[in-house]
Amino acid sequence: MRKIAVFASGNGSNFENIAKIFQPLILICNNKHAYVIERAKYLNVPYFIQKDENKILTILKENNIILIALAGYMKLLSKNFINSFNGTILNIHPSILPKYPGAHAIEKAYNADEKEFGITIHEVDYGMDTGPIKLQKFFFKEETDTLISITEKIHKLEHLYYSIVIQNYLQII
Ligand code: GRF
Repeated sequence: MRKIAVFASGNGSNFENIAKIFQPLILICNNKHAYVIERAKYLNVPYFIQKDENKILTILKENNIILIALAGYMKLLSKNFINSFNGTILNIHPSILPKYPGAHAIEKAYNADEKEFGITIHEVDYGMDTGPIKLQKFFFKEETDTLISITEKIHKLEHLYYSIVIQNYLQII
């Protein structure tokens, strides 16, 4: 059966959204304190708390994983990992890449007084938030927007579009 692995390190709202749409799937988490683990528990999703890439590769193989969806995974995957995984790796990022790669992208864009905000879903290569872009969505900041409201709008876009891109990949791989 086709299976997805979501990699997450923190809150896990994207994981939860994906898990409600695509089963079976597994969670890989590299942070034992992450709230995403609680989400995996109440959603009955098998989860693995693991930092070691070789061990993660073994878990992926054992679970027949063909698609990895990074969703707030706060670690750059090594070249060896990317070359060894026999499948597709996607990432979601809360900015209009190539602007604001890396952590705190929304705050950085907000503090730079950007007028447009958005999300990018892309295939993963060796770089930090680089790789072929598959989908971008953006919106214009309104006068009443705050960092909080922009963050909420970005998460709504993420939850709406990540599953659509994943669905498209499952049809072609
Ligand atoms: C999302 O904004 C995602 O774009 C970024 O990390 C955040 C994860 O949020 N890569 P959550 O843990 O899914 O709530």
